[in-house]
Formats: sequence, structure tokens, C-alpha cells
Amino acid sequence: MKKIAVLVGSFRHGSINQRFARALERLAAGKLQFEFIDISALPHYNEDLLAQKPMPAAAYKQAIAACDGVLIITPEYNRSIPGVLKNALDWGTRPYPENVWRGKPAAMAGASGGAAGTAVAQSQLRSLLPVLDLRVMAQPEVYLQYKPDLISDDFQITNDSTRGFLQGFVDKFAAFVGA
Ligand SMILES: Cc1cc2nc3c(=O)[nH]c(=O)nc-3n(C[C@H](O)[C@H](O)[C@H](O)COP(=O)(O)O)c2cc1C
Repeated sequence: MKKIAVLVGSFRHGSINQRFARALERLAAGKLQFEFIDISALPHYNEDLLAQKPMPAAAYKQAIAACDGVLIITPEYNRSIPGVLKNALDWGTRPYPENVWRGKPAAMAGASGGAAGTAVAQSQLRSLLPVLDLRVMAQPEVYLQYKPDLISDDFQITNDSTRGFLQGFVDKFAAFVGA
């Protein structure tokens, strides 16, 4: 089964984006294997750290390299992506030219309580990912306005229409990565 590196731009307890990512994992069951990549321990990117042994992001980069595709689930912070996510994306590109993202198929989604559902943050992410040489799936775009009870404690999407739409997204991404 194709392995997908899943990066979530929030690691707070109770994160709606972590919850959303788990719901997508459930919809992908039997098609894609989700590998949740821990970005919380990465230091702020600093070129001086590249000389450390082991290099601080070495295990992180190995975990991504072992995957066939990348799924980014982002919150929206001040109409952009959270700094922790940008930091994680930057680490993947260094030391140059060892860019772990090169050529990998990628998709994105995000959840917010606001009506725009991370659309502005994702718009910025869509500009950024081709720079990293990720191959980004164009459609469908997924801007989830999170409401209490939309995702149950066992990560089921409770609204039929939303679940159907997200199933279509997951199925299309599975085809995109060649699963
Ligand atoms: C610094 C900061 C900036 C935020 N800016 C936005 C924003 O621009 N648009 C938006 O929809 N929500 C914004 N929010 C609210 C987040 O959508 C909300 O906190 C969400 O729960 C964060 O995702 P998480 O639950 O996965 O941590 C912001 C939150 C923080 C902490």
C-alpha cells in the first residue's frame, strides 16, 4: 500500500486539524497508509545546525523519504500557514541539494472555525509547494469549516454530504499517487 507522509500544522492538544487528519486517515483505510510525521521537535531552521551529528532533521527527512506521497493539513494563522509548518517544509529542502520533497505527489486540506476554512492559507501553500518540487493535486480544494460534532470521537465525519465530498478527495489523491 502507498505510504503517505502526513504533516499537520498544529500539534496542540485538541487540535481540530489533527482530528481532521485522523478522519481522513479513516476514509483512506485500505487504500493509503498514513504515516503521521512529528514536526513538533524540529528546531527553528538554522544553517549552523546542519553540521551537527546527527543532523537534527535527519530522522524527519528519512521518514518522509520512505513515503510515496505527502498530505499537508494546515490551520490558518493570520491568513497564512503556521510558522511551525513552514519550518518543517524548509528543513525538508536542506542541506542543499538533498530536497526530500523532490517529485513527490502532494495534496492539502485544512480546517478552521471560520467560514473561509483556511482558503487563504492554502492559497499561499499552493504557491509554495511547487517551489519545493512537490507535484500538487489541483482539485478538489478542501476548506473545512469545522463545527462541533462534525467529527466524532472515533474520527467519523458525521455529515453525509461532507463525508462524501472528503471521500472523493481521498480517493482522487489515492489515484494521484498511483495507489
Ligand atoms: C495566531 C493565530 C492566528 C489565527 N488566524 C486565523 C486566520 O487567519 N483565519 C482563521 O480562519 N482562523 C485563524 N485562527 C484561528 C484558528 O483557525 C483556530 O485557532 C484553529 O483551531 C487552529 O487550528 P488547530 O485547532 O488545529 O490548532 C488563528 C489562530 C491563531 C492562534
